[in-house]
Amino acid sequence: MRKKPLIIGNWKMNLTLKEGVAFAQSLRDSLSGKNEVLCGICPSFVSLRDIGKVLEGSGIYMAAQNVHSSENGAYTGEVSAPMVKETGCTHVLIGHSERRNIFGETDAFINAKIKAALSVGLKPILCIGEKLNEREDGRTEYVIKNQLKDDLQGIRADEMKEFTIAYEPVWAIGTGKTALPEQANEVHSFIRSILAEKYGKYIAGNVYIQYGGSAKPENAYELLAQPEIDGLLVGGASIKLESFLHIIEAASNP
Ligand code: 13P
Repeated sequence: MRKKPLIIGNWKMNLTLKEGVAFAQSLRDSLSGKNEVLCGICPSFVSLRDIGKVLEGSGIYMAAQNVHSSENGAYTGEVSAPMVKETGCTHVLIGHSERRNIFGETDAFINAKIKAALSVGLKPILCIGEKLNEREDGRTEYVIKNQLKDDLQGIRADEMKEFTIAYEPVWAIGTGKTALPEQANEVHSFIRSILAEKYGKYIAGNVYIQYGGSAKPENAYELLAQPEIDGLLVGGASIKLESFLHIIEAASNP
């Protein structure tokens, strides 16, 4: 039996506190009584607490977009896992390509962040994906394999159950270029095979693997029709309520 699709909106640096709260209230109202799709949003740090209150009891997940690896300390401008957890977050994005490529996050740092998140019961959504030149050079699998190896170092099978992996080819993010559904499915299948090698087939089969990169209402249905695509991590199309709801609707009609 297929899993319920998991649709998460990564707002990135969009929507102010007021806008985010209004969005969350409307989302909650629109989805009330519907449970065919698991869904969530990733607001900015400053909106988490208030949006957490709006979403309480709704079943809609809330994820932070990032977290620091240390529990506390002299890290000006950073936010720790216990701080994120207290706002009501259920999940946290870790290793988003914008964090890796704009802010220079390494796989070792990402691995430490994952451990920090797990230690307080936050479920990691680990983002991985190749850049355009890596795909063109035929190195997609090599890149994915290494990211998984380094990011998941020391992660046990019982912890892996808490994970979502988001495959986000960097060349498809914010570019309007979506990976072809079959292309994405192929990489998802490869990701699952790597997880199966390390954690066994059962756990690998249960891990959610989302696709991200210019996912929108027009392509959501097609992407989700692929057997290995368990959900979508949506950027640009998640910051307008109407388009986010259209994606959720597409996901609820398999
Ligand atoms: P876009 O949907 O805007 O391409 O962003 C994808 C993404 O980075 C989600 O995390």
